[in-house]
Amino acid sequence: MILCAKNLKKSYKSAQTVTVLSDVSLSLEYGKSLAICGRSGEGKTTLLHILGTLEFPEEGSVTIEGVLCTPSNAAKLRRHSIGFIFQSFHLLEDFTVLENVLMPAHIARRKTERKEGLDLLDAVGLVERADFPVGLLSGGEKQRVAIARALCNKPNLILADEPSGNLDAASAASAANLLFSLVKEHCKSLILVTHDPTLAALCDTTHVLHEGTLDLLRN
Ligand SMILES: Nc1ncnc2c1ncn2[C@@H]1O[C@H](COP(=O)(O)OP(=O)(O)OP(=O)(O)O)[C@@H](O)[C@H]1O
Ligand SMILES: [Mg+2]
Repeated sequence: MILCAKNLKKSYKSAQTVTVLSDVSLSLEYGKSLAICGRSGEGKTTLLHILGTLEFPEEGSVTIEGVLCTPSNAAKLRRHSIGFIFQSFHLLEDFTVLENVLMPAHIARRKTERKEGLDLLDAVGLVERADFPVGLLSGGEKQRVAIARALCNKPNLILADEPSGNLDAASAASAANLLFSLVKEHCKSLILVTHDPTLAALCDTTHVLHEGTLDLLRN
């Protein structure tokens, strides 16, 4: 089992308390893919952030590769086990394409050769843009950089939040196909948040988040 989440509960307390997750459990085997669907605002990004140790639940637990996630080991788990593809890319706009792709290695203080970054860029068809400032790329190209970056530290688990949400239909399909082929090629486990039923159908199972609980839609 690469990931096991049990009885997650999360609410945000501001002017009014909003319970986003009331009791969510899920598990994922190595090499498998799982889609999380659900309407806007149901808590998909919140759930993905908790699964990726970027946020913590009020109750419940997340175990990744057999390690119980805690605030003190979260950064290490993220560096070594998790590759994140964010809803809005979160690339460093003033850095080059190559620098962005190798950033996870830099954060993990792992020395890299230029070749390693070029190989990742080759996989997403952007090798000729290696020294280009990321801020000048198109949305679809940025998404491909984000996919390459997620693979940099060879994590076993990829978490992708609407990886095609900001793109036109053709670019969305090509980003999605790219993601799935890389996940398959490297035998990675994938949790994919998406509004798109066609994309969800490419995963081994589909779950729907609604009113704080996660239900299996398709097995
Ligand atoms: N930091 C926060 N403080 C207060 N409320 C928050 C916070 N983050 C999220 N929320 C609320 O939690 C709910 C779930 O948000 P979330 O971003 O997880 O939804 P989502 O399913 O990813 O939506 P979308 O499909 O639009 O991306 C929303 O109502 C949102 O307003
Ligand atoms: Mg979201």
